[in-house]
Amino acid sequence: MNTCSLFSLLSLLLFSRADALYANALLNCVFTSTNDVVYLGQLFINKVLWGEYNSTVGKYVGFTEKGRQIAEEVNKNPSFLKQEKKNLEKCKTHVPVAMEILSKAVEPSVRLRAFDATDSKHPRMLVCSAYNFYPKQINVRWLRNGKEVTSDVTSTEELPNGNWLYQMHSYLEMTPRAGEKIACMVEHASFQKPKLYEWDPICESDRTKIAVGTAVLLLGIVFLVAGLFCYLRNPHGRQLVLTQPAS
Ligand SMILES: *[C@@H]1O[C@H](CO)[C@@H](O)[C@H](O)[C@H]1NC(C)=O
Repeated sequence: MNTCSLFSLLSLLLFSRADALYANALLNCVFTSTNDVVYLGQLFINKVLWGEYNSTVGKYVGFTEKGRQIAEEVNKNPSFLKQEKKNLEKCKTHVPVAMEILSKAVEPSVRLRAFDATDSKHPRMLVCSAYNFYPKQINVRWLRNGKEVTSDVTSTEELPNGNWLYQMHSYLEMTPRAGEKIACMVEHASFQKPKLYEWDPICESDRTKIAVGTAVLLLGIVFLVAGLFCYLRNPHGRQLVLTQPAS
């Protein structure tokens, strides 16, 4: 037995039996502080926790009748306990690695977008989105000409991506006015100081123009290709008449 503890071995044995019990073993390193760890091996059979080895307790503990019988037997066997001690050592070597990951801040990537607002007293809605940041704590605020805006602002919670990283969105309903500067301000542990993302409505309309221009250009290319294709298939257009079946 190398990395396998008793419980994972047992689960293998049970798993291969004809009456197909569904067993699984969970081997956990539970970090209790920045420098301590508890090793926890758990055996589930048909989703019921039969027993576990908790390194703080230092022996197997059964929670079902069978689980208790097994625990009693294997607690008499020093090689199993030795293996679990090894597993605990492995967990301990993981502590610095895990702590390094957890202590590193991951910078959010921030995007500012505008939409036409429906059912709102304001025609526009700006959305400031922060993606893929760690840790969870973040502050997303809106500034109008350098002053914080608090009305017509709604924000989501920090939403977990499921990969340790988070995202968050803040919405500002607004009526654009000439000459005013709107910015989204993000504060996060990964930044030395708050970062400002300025909204540029002129850029936005330019972008629309570019998009329309590109669409027209693409359409032109489509027609060109279609025309070429027709030409290649039938370079002498007039002959087409001759190939039509006589009615
Ligand atoms: C392990 O056992 C200790 C002592 O009973 C307990 O305080 C701790 O919560 C247990 N750890 C886990 C992860 O179950």
